[in-house]
Amino acid sequence: MLSMDLKGKKVFIAGIGDDQGYGWAIAKAMAEAGAEIIIGTWTPIVKIFTLSWSTGKFDESRKLSNGKLMEYLKVYALDASYDKPEDVPQDVKENKRYVDAGGYTISEVAAAVEKDFGKIDFLVHALANGPEVKKPLLETSRAGYLAAVSSSAYSFVSLLAHFGPLLNKGGATISLTYMASEKAIPGYGGGMSSAKAALESDTRTLAFEAGRKWNVRVNTISAGALKSRAAKAIGFIENMINYGKINAPLEKDLEAEEVGQAAAFLLSPLSSAITGVTLYVDNGMHAMGLAVDSPSYQGQA
Ligand SMILES: NC(=O)c1ccc[n+]([C@@H]2O[C@H](COP(=O)([O-])OP(=O)(O)OC[C@H]3O[C@@H](n4cnc5c(N)ncnc54)[C@H](O)[C@@H]3O)[C@@H](O)[C@H]2O)c1
Repeated sequence: MLSMDLKGKKVFIAGIGDDQGYGWAIAKAMAEAGAEIIIGTWTPIVKIFTLSWSTGKFDESRKLSNGKLMEYLKVYALDASYDKPEDVPQDVKENKRYVDAGGYTISEVAAAVEKDFGKIDFLVHALANGPEVKKPLLETSRAGYLAAVSSSAYSFVSLLAHFGPLLNKGGATISLTYMASEKAIPGYGGGMSSAKAALESDTRTLAFEAGRKWNVRVNTISAGALKSRAAKAIGFIENMINYGKINAPLEKDLEAEEVGQAAAFLLSPLSSAITGVTLYVDNGMHAMGLAVDSPSYQGQA
């Protein structure tokens, strides 16, 4: 029988801030397969996340199919825009949501994970940030564009560079991308489309480099629209979800769980020969060249 048993394996998931996003769904799928979960949560929201967890706000979402609640080994404060303490600007260091956190740059978190757990098996990058995401690319500032690429694409390069040595041979990594990397999606601005294009290109280059260096696989999932906290900030996510339902080959909601399961597959040994791939988990939306709700389509159905 084909089965996925990840008992005894550890996954570090960067980018869980609540129970609504893809990072959470990936954690759930990995926990269902028996893996142990280590979380990196954006520094400004780590307190609210751990408080919500401990006061039971996520209990319903934590339920696994065996009736138990998903647990984590540890939550680390992480700001993936910074690689080492010297990179953090003074105003950020002194910000009230950062001042007590300490050790939240990528190199510090990787060192802490190694100290606490030694080797781990999998790395998940489920984070993105574009301060000017609502602006068209033509109106995006250089600073906004570079911030989007820094937080949403280089953050994966840096996470892999720092966690690569901690990954057991045969380990695997994934990130999450979006179709705006390859097709124009008006409204997904601020250099976020550019960041996703970089993330996908880096997936191929890093698959080669990490494969040769550590025998580790690197893949990315191009996910369809989901009403996560990050996506709500873009402002038109409900329209995009609706658009997908009307126009995708599969006429159904896209569940975060479906992305979680695909991620578990890409991390597990079931995909041991797959690396450097962008896997679409979007009800087939990427395959369409004509919108079904377009007047051009009328009369063909
Ligand atoms: N929601 C969608 O429609 C959709 C579609 C395709 C791809 N994605 C991608 O999925 C991934 C997860 O996003 P989501 O939509 O599930 O939303 P989400 O809000 O659950 O996750 C994004 C997380 O990134 C964290 N984050 C932002 N900046 C950070 C930083 N500098 N350091 C550390 N963490 C930081 C946020 O706190 C948040 O927890 C992102 O890469 C996103 O682009 C989302």
